[in-house]
Amino acid sequence: MKFLTTISALLGLAAASPLDPEPPLKRATQALQQVTGFGTNPSNTKMYIYVPATLAASPPIIVAIHYCTGTANGYYSGSPYAQLADQKGFIVIYPESPYSGTCWDVSSKSALSHDGGGDSNSIANMVTYALDKYQGDATKVFVTGSSSGAMMTNVMAATYPEMFAAGIAYSGVAAGCFMSASNAVDGWNNSCATGQSTATAAKWASVVTDMYPGYNGTRPKMQIYHGSADTTLAPRNYNETIKQWVGVFGYDENAPVTTQANSPQNGYTTYTYGDHLVGIYAQGVGHTVPIRGADDMKFFGL
Ligand SMILES: *[C@@H]1O[C@H](CO)[C@@H](O)[C@H](O)[C@H]1NC(C)=O
Ligand SMILES: *[C@@H]1O[C@H](CO)[C@@H](O)[C@H](O)[C@H]1NC(C)=O
Ligand SMILES: *[C@@H]1O[C@H](CO)[C@@H](O)[C@H](O)[C@H]1NC(C)=O
Repeated sequence: MKFLTTISALLGLAAASPLDPEPPLKRATQALQQVTGFGTNPSNTKMYIYVPATLAASPPIIVAIHYCTGTANGYYSGSPYAQLADQKGFIVIYPESPYSGTCWDVSSKSALSHDGGGDSNSIANMVTYALDKYQGDATKVFVTGSSSGAMMTNVMAATYPEMFAAGIAYSGVAAGCFMSASNAVDGWNNSCATGQSTATAAKWASVVTDMYPGYNGTRPKMQIYHGSADTTLAPRNYNETIKQWVGVFGYDENAPVTTQANSPQNGYTTYTYGDHLVGIYAQGVGHTVPIRGADDMKFFGL
């Protein structure tokens, strides 16, 4: 598309040429900034932040977490959150993984524990820093991500339930599904990726509650997207993730409150289990389900 646009420009064709039917993605107006010294950073994760020119009074915060091989800058330019921040005045935090291959550590005991000293701990400290520095609204902190970032979204919701009001995971796995028997940091878990790690809702829920023992406060509401043609993280991971949050919230995995076919678009089915859980299964979609920025804003209440 970029190539065609360049050709159009060279030939002096009108900007809205039929070769290029999609309106161009609006650019964010501000640059991404790196923040050093945001507080304790046990796993050496990098922090980047997007602060729109017009900030809401007491701004909400969205943590947007990149996929494997991704970067903060790649997710900033390839996802809609910065442009939406320009419209709505919230802040976006883009953490960047410290590992070669740049997946997230969702396998070590540290990462899978509240204040355990892993990536999840570093990301939580970024949120605390931004809330303080920009007088953010602590009741409007959200987390989202794609693929490895979706795995981390589930992990953040499990390890820091007091911090987040809602999470949206695009094509991830259940929190703890990638756990490493040998406590590897940033490990790959083939049994989970291929959809062989299955458990009951009660078991998956205990994986979550064990990440922050004794926590009895509210937990973020969750929206889980997955494609039925995902060959990287088997579609079965959708079902296991749904079971996990069904178990946490005490819903019935076999009885969604509503099932909407062809919603939010043709081929997608939306299952609502209760106030705190929505699953969206995308028939025929591979890895990863494309981000739906406007719908995310609705789910977050922004
Ligand atoms: C992969 O994760 C599962 C839980 O989903 C765990 O039981 C298993 O031990 C892990 N595999 C390895 C090789 O660590
Ligand atoms: C929740 O945990 C806090 C802190 O441990 C405790 O003081 C409180 O009694 C607990 N509340 C309930 C309803 O269990
Ligand atoms: C997983 O969930 C989807 C959507 O509800 C369903 O179509 C599919 O049959 C389920 N897969 C398994 C293995 O239960």
